[in-house]
Amino acid sequence: MIDRLSNKVAIVTGGGSGFGEAISERFVAEGANVLVVDIDQSAGSEVARRLGENARFFHADVAVEDSVRRTVDYACEAFGQLDIVVNNAGVASPPVAIDLMEEALFDRLFNTNVKSVFLFCRHAVPVLRAAGGGSIINTASTSALKPRPMNAGYAASKAAVLTLTKALAIELAGDNIRVNALTPVASDTPLFRDFLGDGAEQKRTEIAAAIPLGRLGLPSDMAACAAFLASDEACFLTGISLPVDGGWTAS
Ligand SMILES: NC(=O)c1ccc[n+]([C@@H]2O[C@H](COP(=O)([O-])OP(=O)(O)OC[C@H]3O[C@@H](n4cnc5c(N)ncnc54)[C@H](O)[C@@H]3O)[C@@H](O)[C@H]2O)c1
Repeated sequence: MIDRLSNKVAIVTGGGSGFGEAISERFVAEGANVLVVDIDQSAGSEVARRLGENARFFHADVAVEDSVRRTVDYACEAFGQLDIVVNNAGVASPPVAIDLMEEALFDRLFNTNVKSVFLFCRHAVPVLRAAGGGSIINTASTSALKPRPMNAGYAASKAAVLTLTKALAIELAGDNIRVNALTPVASDTPLFRDFLGDGAEQKRTEIAAAIPLGRLGLPSDMAACAAFLASDEACFLTGISLPVDGGWTAS
């Protein structure tokens, strides 16, 4: 493993499962100290325990401002600095027609997937700015670019993440804070199983067959790309959306 993140401190939201777990693991392997953040206490604390002394867990709801403020404060207290924020926690929903979608579901998708990015930027940017720079990575989705039917709320929330990424990249470039998005295709995590709803097995096979490289994504694909974007090797990249999608959005 290349040691590209030594002396860096990262917050990884949704670190208790799927992409966030793999990103946390990869960051620690690359030398970072990682604050694993999740609303699921047992999953998140288990990940941090498994990753050892360079990881800690913080229980937070990324959609609630006080929770986000306390997360940023804790990262600075526990590790003495903050360099990287990975806004990865998110929720999806089973397929639902627009006229049957409850307002509460739309709000939940936007609060967890979009407002969280705003809140973490609001509270982490002053810390990164004072430190002379940093890297913010937001998990979007290919749904933002090629939406599937019955998925409008989720797709729109991820499109908002892409636009926030570009807007903040421009706004924060003068502070040496890079802001980029990862845009993953379907990967077999608990969230994806929720997203598929009924007939999951058949849909999984069809989706994998439509991806040019012939398989679903893996959390390790996301982890490798996140480590690159977080590292100084990506020092000239800001405002990009990196498709981690086996060619899906090119097809
Ligand atoms: N898996 C896919 O196919 C896929 C594809 C495109 C984009 N994504 C995006 O990737 C990200 C990670 O998803 P995943 O597939 O790893 O899902 P996952 O369900 O495995 O992990 C998501 C984690 O986020 C946590 N979380 C949810 N709401 C939270 C909140 N309010 N506060 C704190 N933590 C919260 C969950 O507890 C969970 O541990 C999400 O933003 C998702 O939208 C996933």
